[in-house]
Amino acid sequence: MFPQRIISVSDLSDDQIGEVITCAKKFEKTLSGKQPLPRVLEGKVIATLFFQPSTRTRLSFEAAALKLGGEVLSMENAEINSSTAKGESIEDTVMTVGQYTDLIIIRHYDQESVAKAALVSPKPIINAGDGTGEHPTQALLDLYTIKKRLGRMNNFKIGIVGDLKNGRTTHSLIKLLARFEKVDFTFISPAGLTVPDWLRQELDSKNIPFREVTNLAKYLSELDVLYMTRIQQEYMDKDEYQKYQSVYCLDQVGVKQMKESAIVMHPLPRVDEITRSVDLDPRAAYFDQVRSGLCVRMALLKLILDR
Ligand code: NCD
Repeated sequence: MFPQRIISVSDLSDDQIGEVITCAKKFEKTLSGKQPLPRVLEGKVIATLFFQPSTRTRLSFEAAALKLGGEVLSMENAEINSSTAKGESIEDTVMTVGQYTDLIIIRHYDQESVAKAALVSPKPIINAGDGTGEHPTQALLDLYTIKKRLGRMNNFKIGIVGDLKNGRTTHSLIKLLARFEKVDFTFISPAGLTVPDWLRQELDSKNIPFREVTNLAKYLSELDVLYMTRIQQEYMDKDEYQKYQSVYCLDQVGVKQMKESAIVMHPLPRVDEITRSVDLDPRAAYFDQVRSGLCVRMALLKLILDR
């Protein structure tokens, strides 16, 4: 059976990851064709419970559910709008939401809260971002985009850039890509924002090599995938943010140094890591990632709920 709790990319086996990719590809094809989408979520209600801001993750999950015939109960600003504001525990909130819905998608500023919610949830639950921990569905859509654009999920060089300490998308992506053959990792970040110890230990224990550098320009010409991320301002004080702000920026000159076959990715939102002039370059893949997000999330909802 497909996992009913997706808190980390490690909750999925290699075969299940393959299932997600295959199913997302089918949905992407149907979306661009004339055939209607299957209404596999008819009669199902999904809840999106968001304690942190979101544009793509929440709306793409909701669009995915609606397109497959499901319905959505949406709670944004949940720290203000839900009974959390009155002191209710995350466990009680999830126990409650689970009585009304068939699946819960949750984003929280606190890593522990998502894990606590998952322990008691009466319904399937998907982590849509747990503080500085993980963001597994973003990594799946990133992998799907890499497959779509490079034609393979192994044997490539990736540079992952930005706030690797706090950026949960980078954590899930690194964990996921480490499972594939010959993925050559270069982690590019300021010295104070390198990958956290728990991830470093995980890579070391699996003998996955990686190099850690601070200079982006030097590596542009050798990468197949450049994965830019923003500095995670919400996890630092003003002084720290000022120190790191605008430390990396890919512009038209930079992207032209990259291989013609390379791709530039970003989970979005971007602040100033990629200038808008790069958007027109054929290597820019970040809005393709947005599209992938819809298809991969349709696939996940189907695989979890259509039993
Ligand atoms: C990311 C997140 O929330 O972690 N956004 C997203 O879901 N695409 C990235 C970020 O906020 O920097």
